[in-house]
Amino acid sequence: MNGGLVPWSRATTHVSAHALHYGSGVFEGMRCYETPDGAAVFRLDAHLDRLYSSAEIYGLEIPYTPAELSEAVCEVIRRNDFDSCYVRPICYFGSGSLNVHPRNCPVEVVILAWPWATYLGAAGLEQGVRVTVSPWRKFQSRMMPTTAKACGQYLNSMLAVRDAIDRGYAEALLLDSEGNLAEGSGENIFIVRDGQLLTNDDRHSILLGITRDAVLQIAGDLGCPVEIKALELDDLLSADEAFFTGTAAEVTPISEVDMIPIGRGSRGPVTQEIQRAFFAATSGRDQRYAHWLHSVDIRRDEDNKSFSLAQAFTPGIVECG
Ligand SMILES: Cc1ncc(COP(=O)(O)O)c(C=O)c1O
Repeated sequence: MNGGLVPWSRATTHVSAHALHYGSGVFEGMRCYETPDGAAVFRLDAHLDRLYSSAEIYGLEIPYTPAELSEAVCEVIRRNDFDSCYVRPICYFGSGSLNVHPRNCPVEVVILAWPWATYLGAAGLEQGVRVTVSPWRKFQSRMMPTTAKACGQYLNSMLAVRDAIDRGYAEALLLDSEGNLAEGSGENIFIVRDGQLLTNDDRHSILLGITRDAVLQIAGDLGCPVEIKALELDDLLSADEAFFTGTAAEVTPISEVDMIPIGRGSRGPVTQEIQRAFFAATSGRDQRYAHWLHSVDIRRDEDNKSFSLAQAFTPGIVECG
């Protein structure tokens, strides 16, 4: 937290923090996986690139270099002795002023990590999840930049997922302002039709997911044709298969949408193959994707300016809630 290691119970911020009042923060969600070479963060560089892009859009100047944050992410995982975990870097405007303009508010930078199993349930990964079309629309990208991962933007997702769960579904699917498919509350969507993968892009108000990008590359490597285009709800309802992608949800099949089964109402063969290849990549079993894994154990200290948490660290204070 702001350059030092802090126990979970003391990782607090002031109630006057700008971000608490206005949602003025940006964050990332990454997963660290157990691999034969030790713990490794999946696509750490891509996540940090997106963090810095999100920050730039909102005028947050992150007072660390990407190399420093990269090392800090690894240090948090190492110090907690996690083999696998979820990692949440967050940068936000702290306490300084409650003007809507965040002038005089310091930028706070925190990296949290905790063990996190499957997001939509282990059974969901195999059998698929039940999804509902949300009454809430995804905000249009000229209202807020959907390609940025910013705290306040998630109120839209929260409304959608709460409504879905209240009505007995696992996840919400949001349409964009024109009624095309956008994405889940925390996932991108893919459809399979006649052996072809279909997905949309940022013209439909989505966050450009890093898992989405990984799946696009994996599909290419599997020789599976992909088309990126606007998707209508009918495309989904008449699809052979559909699945969500996201760091938290990984690759999760969609079994039904508002009681209408997708395909046979269970995980389809193409989804299963993509899942298999994805988990082979994240677990380090497929060497073709080794460049996506950032080993936590290797210190990249060649750069003299590299971040040294060791200086700020007091042994014995790390605990995780
Ligand atoms: C709204 C939204 N869309 C899509 C995604 C998937 O993005 P990624 O694969 O980078 O986790 C996420 C998760 O971060 C999300 O919150």
